[in-house]
Amino acid sequence: MCALRAETTVKNRRGGRASVSIRQISKRYGSGPAAVDAVSLDLESGEFVTLLGASGSGKTTTLMVVAGFTAPDHGDVVLDGRSILGLPPEKRGIGVVFQNYALFPHMNALRNVAFPLRMRNVPRREARTRAEAALDRVGLASLGGRLPSQLSGGQQQRVALARALVFEPGLLLMDEPLGALDRALREQMKTEIRRLHRDLGITILYVTHDQEEALTLSDRIALMDRGRIIQIGAPRELYEHPANRFVASFIGEGSLIEGTVLRDEQGEASLLPRGGSQPLPARRTDLPKGAAAFILLRPEKLRLSRPDQGGGGAQAEVLDTVYVGDTTRVTLRMNDGATLVAKETNHADSLRWSPGADVRVAWAREDAALLPAEYS
Ligand SMILES: Nc1ncnc2c1ncn2[C@@H]1O[C@H](COP(=O)(O)OP(=O)(O)OP(=O)(O)O)[C@@H](O)[C@H]1O
Ligand SMILES: [Mg+2]
Repeated sequence: MCALRAETTVKNRRGGRASVSIRQISKRYGSGPAAVDAVSLDLESGEFVTLLGASGSGKTTTLMVVAGFTAPDHGDVVLDGRSILGLPPEKRGIGVVFQNYALFPHMNALRNVAFPLRMRNVPRREARTRAEAALDRVGLASLGGRLPSQLSGGQQQRVALARALVFEPGLLLMDEPLGALDRALREQMKTEIRRLHRDLGITILYVTHDQEEALTLSDRIALMDRGRIIQIGAPRELYEHPANRFVASFIGEGSLIEGTVLRDEQGEASLLPRGGSQPLPARRTDLPKGAAAFILLRPEKLRLSRPDQGGGGAQAEVLDTVYVGDTTRVTLRMNDGATLVAKETNHADSLRWSPGADVRVAWAREDAALLPAEYS
């Protein structure tokens, strides 16, 4: 019965986009700690959501539960309002791209791409036409006759992508699809994945440990640590409003200075650094006065000026500068010992700094978040 229902679902969904609800999924291998620990995540139809996290944080396990290759200990996966846990992978109507391509080495590219259709009993001629169209979509129309061993890594990855898309799944899962590619190819494939997502409107659940990839591709990012989702939000939200120190240090760069929260009568917040006397202005916060916290100062938010320019800000000394082409990274030591890194854009009027120089460093309150020391 399950199978019949699945076939209907797959057919109905051709060319559509699925909504996905991952509900309280847990998975433990043997007696170790939970690889995935009560993970919940809803994807709207057409949404691009990325699971981002360090190695071993549970990204692949979560994806494999959705794909049907791993059975969870608890929880449910609901696709377009129906639980799919009872269905085998091939009945779920989900396209999957694995990191290692997993192409059949003895089949040429076209037959690789046609394979999911043949599995679904699509007649040979129609399968061929649709496989050719899928190869064309990823820019490989002329290479269908080649074996995987006769294709470059990037081309193999495209074949894998075409194979995952050929039966027009409502949901596409991608596990580190760009991991094996060099930098230039990665950039190119990123653009292509964005285009495919836009053109097909398909729902995508994507896995990477590369924050830049996650930031540039996703509608929303779910940041994972030790089997749990620590924060879910749009890229801008995670970068500008990290929920805690873990998120702040995982995404983007920045100096985190420890101290206690101060508030004035107007409710404006600042942080008194541990062992320091100069309060650092910060964004408003729910954290109570006196709470232990960190202030996050991102390099591009800091403005440097000379003491004689009257620009205000905290006193600091330049420790080091590194020219990086578009920017110069300036490392500073504040009076009470904290170290900051500022990123200055290079243009004709940029100030030049040398080690030992006195400098004023300022930032907008809104740009400096106060974060709880730990997440619970
Ligand atoms: N088949 C398995 N048997 C035992 N432990 C496993 C198995 N697969 C994964 N694990 C463990 O579960 C945890 C999560 O693994 P998972 O592969 O989901 O992580 P990941 O976030 O995808 O990591 P990576 O970025 O390295 O691919 C890890 O501690 C891993 O060692
Ligand atoms: Mg993995």
